[in-house]
Amino acid sequence: MNTENIYIHNVNDFVAMRKAGSLTAKILDALKNFIEPGISTEDINEFCHRMIIKNDAVPAPLNYKNFPKSVCTSVNHVVCHGIPSEKKILKNGDIINVDVTVILDGWHGDSSRTFAVGNINNKILSLLKTTYECLLIGIENAKPGKKIGDIGYSIQKYAEAKNFSVVRDFCGHGIGKKFHTPPSILHYGSIGEGVEIVPGMFFTIEPMINIGNWQVKILNDGWTAVTKDKSLSAQYEHTIGITENGNEIFTLSQNNSDFPINTI
Ligand code: MF3
Ligand code: CO
Ligand code: CO
Repeated sequence: MNTENIYIHNVNDFVAMRKAGSLTAKILDALKNFIEPGISTEDINEFCHRMIIKNDAVPAPLNYKNFPKSVCTSVNHVVCHGIPSEKKILKNGDIINVDVTVILDGWHGDSSRTFAVGNINNKILSLLKTTYECLLIGIENAKPGKKIGDIGYSIQKYAEAKNFSVVRDFCGHGIGKKFHTPPSILHYGSIGEGVEIVPGMFFTIEPMINIGNWQVKILNDGWTAVTKDKSLSAQYEHTIGITENGNEIFTLSQNNSDFPINTI
């Protein structure tokens, strides 16, 4: 633990996170061929729940602060924390973020990807690509010698140059034996701000990027975050560990579908 209450992990902890992270990725990898027009977000919840349990893990969202389901499913203008429902049927042209967090042997793997349902138009494709690139740029800046604020600064700069906006109300987080710990990883901000990044830190980077403006509101269910202007929102998330020279991505896809969109 350093002065900012940020836990510094050891090599054994990296081994444990590799396992939790790769299970998380395996579930997201399997979703690529499962998601299609006509299925419900509850179908996705059940698919993930079964796969998590089968692999001797626990779905972290279920009953977390009273969240009622095993994954978050956020469709179109839903920014994050969408609650799976059998009433929400996916249709051609939709986008959906599925956010999977597993607990394996006591360790959390947290990752999300935005998928296309059928065919999407070029504007939406550009939102998805930019959001994924924001995640990669954030990861590039997550290394010893940099500050936590450098991550958000680099993401905001890239997103706004493409005329998209960065959601302010939700951020990445420290992770490990607990789901959400310090530090908060903002996806916007100023260069050189915040604590120094050092080896052994585990955290997520999970930018939410909107086509319209960044304002969001929470629906009456107490969870679902939507864009105020109803514009589309996308998100990609990885869990990473800081190493001596850079970082290790614990939640990397095993079949190259970190960005699960077929581009021609
Ligand atoms: N997985 C989300 C994150 O990236 C948190 C979901 S909390 C829940 O931090 F309760 F909605 F599941
Ligand atoms: Co997270
Ligand atoms: Co998540």
